[in-house]
Amino acid sequence: MKGILLAGGSGTRLYPITLAVNKHLLPIYNKLMIYYSLSLLMLAGIRDIALVVNPHEKDMFKYLFKNAEALQLNLNYVEQDKPLGLSHAIMKACECPGFKDSPLMVVLGDNILYGHTLPITLEKAKEHLMKKGGAYVFAYHVPDPHRYGTVEFDQDGRVLSIEEKPEHPKSNYAIIGVYMFDATVSEKVKKVKLSHRGEYEITSLLEEYLKEGTLKVSLLGRGFAWFDAGTHDSLLEAGEFVATIERRTGLMIACIEEIAFRNGWIDKDTLLKIAKSLSKTGYGKYLKKLAEE
Ligand code: TTP
Repeated sequence: MKGILLAGGSGTRLYPITLAVNKHLLPIYNKLMIYYSLSLLMLAGIRDIALVVNPHEKDMFKYLFKNAEALQLNLNYVEQDKPLGLSHAIMKACECPGFKDSPLMVVLGDNILYGHTLPITLEKAKEHLMKKGGAYVFAYHVPDPHRYGTVEFDQDGRVLSIEEKPEHPKSNYAIIGVYMFDATVSEKVKKVKLSHRGEYEITSLLEEYLKEGTLKVSLLGRGFAWFDAGTHDSLLEAGEFVATIERRTGLMIACIEEIAFRNGWIDKDTLLKIAKSLSKTGYGKYLKKLAEE
């Protein structure tokens, strides 16, 4: 399975913060926002990643991830000429070598997900999809489902309907910004038409799988925290949440070097080298401690 990380868009809900800076490069406590979404792909064991960016911001991301190879990540930079929607971004990413006929995990760059069983949850969905095909959405219980894309499902986790910001939601489960698709996605995404909002919507892509009866949902239970850090309040809330958990546990959320190390992608020497370059920070000290454990 290959990964698509969406870091384009306009970030208008965060104006004026994002007038000059891409949203995904804003800090969530001690890391950049994009670390959190990238870590989800890494936790699912994915190293081949298409990073979708706005053309004028590509160099910033290239600079940020100049040492990605040291983490054994293979990043392909994909320019989305205009933020024409999530399906449009996926279509562009499918043009990367090797992506066209591959199952894909897609993560929105402003999503933050935390929970004890997260790697198992991702692995289970991935395994099911690799065997049986179809697509997976992940859903989270929210108090205000009318603000989100919501999902109705049966006892086996088969999706019955999806609705965008419904007035009378059929469930309290919101679809979060993490998706898994089988290898037919590159063909299905071509069928998506421009919506009345002027975007190629992800919902239309999901509907292709829904029509086939192969769209499944994985529910994220009470032990999870999910943030879409795309507004002023959620940006602050996410930062406070990460700070609280990290201070209480002494363990980091979305530390990409730690995940690469625990996945066995980098060795102790590489970790120590990275730690040294960040030695003035708690982040660097954390990596050093990890290597010496
Ligand atoms: P959104 O939050 O829906 O859109 P946005 O980032 O442009 O923000 P705003 O609504 O405040 O203007 O996007 C969800 C994620 O997908 C986000 O991480 C950016 C990314 N994205 C793309 O990469 N390409 C796109 O065409 C769009 C619309 C979003």
